Amino acid sequence: VPSTAKCHASVATSYMETSEVTGLDWDNLGFGLIETDFMYVAKCGPDGIFSKGEVLPFGPIALSPSAGVLNYGQGLFEGLKAYRKTDGSILLFRPEENAIRMISGAERMCMPAPTVEQFVDAVKQTVLANKRWVPPTGKGSLYIRPLLIGSGAVLGLAPAPEYSFIIFVSPVGNYFKEGLSPINLIVEEKFHRASPGGTGGVKTIGNYASVLKAQKVAKGKGYSDVLYLDAVHDKYLEEVSSCNIFVVKDNVISTPAIKGTILPGITRKSIIEVAQSKGFKVEERLVSVDELLNADEVFCTGTAVVVSPVGSVTYMGKRVEYGNQGVGVVSQQLYKSLTSLQMGNVEDWMGWTVQL
Ligand code: COI
Repeated sequence: VPSTAKCHASVATSYMETSEVTGLDWDNLGFGLIETDFMYVAKCGPDGIFSKGEVLPFGPIALSPSAGVLNYGQGLFEGLKAYRKTDGSILLFRPEENAIRMISGAERMCMPAPTVEQFVDAVKQTVLANKRWVPPTGKGSLYIRPLLIGSGAVLGLAPAPEYSFIIFVSPVGNYFKEGLSPINLIVEEKFHRASPGGTGGVKTIGNYASVLKAQKVAKGKGYSDVLYLDAVHDKYLEEVSSCNIFVVKDNVISTPAIKGTILPGITRKSIIEVAQSKGFKVEERLVSVDELLNADEVFCTGTAVVVSPVGSVTYMGKRVEYGNQGVGVVSQQLYKSLTSLQMGNVEDWMGWTVQL
């Protein structure tokens, strides 16, 4: 990790306040990396205590070829977003939830983790340093990507002797190329994403590399993403490569329960809480593929995807389409409720946003 050209957050903050981003087409942001000015880096040695981090110019990091993350995949990532309100201020959505999830994932991956306070403070510093990259209201968000990696060198299989906590950001728009239109999913018949006792419930980097093959094949056939079934019965829904899944039947909302093989999504949790507060019955349980095929509405949730309606699901060659091209009344209502909170368009009745 570069240690030269250090830039303290206060310097970064005054810099970005005076300069606009030029040449960026804010109306057509997709979900790809747009490099910004600064990143955050903190390190920790065998004592497990992270140094006071630094805001540095965004750029390559130096790693030993023997780094634990490169050789044995000892790494975690997070994802959260910052939105610009109409008054110009910036809102973070439940950043402490990401911190908590990183701490529990780090425990599973034998890594030390930053405290909740360090994590949230680092996110704030990084966003403020890159303030000019937060899209104008209504044009998208600043996606924040915290990483925790075994950056120390190892050869034998063991936890790394040094860890790096890094945060970079990128302005983003819609995740799927369909934009806000319903997506088309295929239920995976050959590969599984996770198995009991494994790391499916942890946001570890390997979970994402291992789904690339199925995703590539599916995209090649025109599908937006892949929905995985459980590895034991090949019958119950797990999640999509990049997000969680919900089905709606007779106004009851159901989603696979968190049992170690499914990522405990923060958007998933937020949608459950918003739905309950609106009077919906929400069930976290085993949800079979038959229920999926007979649902009234299906939608996905995730930080990147937000709430994405599902227009069709294909399973064993059979395609099922959902009403109104997939934009169901319940999905639409929940999308509106959640995004109004995230973007600061309504009073934060859940107390979830952090204003910068
Ligand atoms: C997110 O939604 O933030 C994720 O981490 C999923 C990733 C595949 C983009």
